[in-house]
Amino acid sequence: MDETRGRITKDGIRIYEDADFAGMRAAGRAAAEILDLVSPLMQVGVTTGEIDAFIRDEVERRGLISATIGYRGYQHASCISVNHVVCHGIPGNKIPGRSSDALVAGDIVNIDVTVVVDGWFGDSSRMYAVLPLKPFAQRLVTVTHEALMRGIAAVKPGNTFGDIGHAIQTHVEGARVSVVRDFCGHGLGRVFHAPPNVLHYGRAGTGAVLEEGMFFTIEPMVNLGRPETKTLSDDWTAITRDKSLSAQFEHSVGVTATGCEIFTLSPAGKFHPTW
Ligand code: MF3
Ligand code: CO
Ligand code: CO
Repeated sequence: MDETRGRITKDGIRIYEDADFAGMRAAGRAAAEILDLVSPLMQVGVTTGEIDAFIRDEVERRGLISATIGYRGYQHASCISVNHVVCHGIPGNKIPGRSSDALVAGDIVNIDVTVVVDGWFGDSSRMYAVLPLKPFAQRLVTVTHEALMRGIAAVKPGNTFGDIGHAIQTHVEGARVSVVRDFCGHGLGRVFHAPPNVLHYGRAGTGAVLEEGMFFTIEPMVNLGRPETKTLSDDWTAITRDKSLSAQFEHSVGVTATGCEIFTLSPAGKFHPTW
């Protein structure tokens, strides 16, 4: 065994072993398969409560554990964030600015699912839509997905976490939209949230150096207007302060010798905002 594996770096980041990639692969695949199954529910009148119940049932049917049910008092198998909700939208609650939790045409919807498979955490979110979308909403979703993939392209040993943030921020701001600072990605593995905080903005060459065996999420939130957020009185739902639309995509990744492995790619090829 290479003695540099199975340790914690000076930045507090766990370095996992080669065999651990199989655990993350299974967890990430389960999260992605469940997200693939949600697409047909994106219809006018379907409620976020119904979508979460579907996800909860699917997690149970597979004999898996939802990481979010019971997490810091959270009681749902997903977060469902519609339009100007940035993240942590609570399924079944009224959609902010609306009298119910039912979807309407033109909604853009982030669904975030984390499952535990044999002790490994797979965390992913993607955007869905109730078609047709306005061109500016479609563009926001596309830019956000591109930003995530630019960040992932910066993942390789020797690069830094600042390189990831810089790649994301440059793409987002080049498209004249803004990247949220109030939430970040995170290390994960046999735990849900671990060091480091993975910022979606930053300077190239700064921050901890990436090493083979690190597992973390990248999950940029991108706003059509200003980047500031506020959290509603339910203590979870985060919205854009200016009520502009917000989008997010999230992958769980592992650093390999030459780059990275994305654990949460859609087996059906659906992880892309063209539906
Ligand atoms: N899945 C979210 C993340 O990307 C965390 C959700 S925690 C919850 O880290 F309690 F809101 F579900
Ligand atoms: Co996450
Ligand atoms: Co997540």
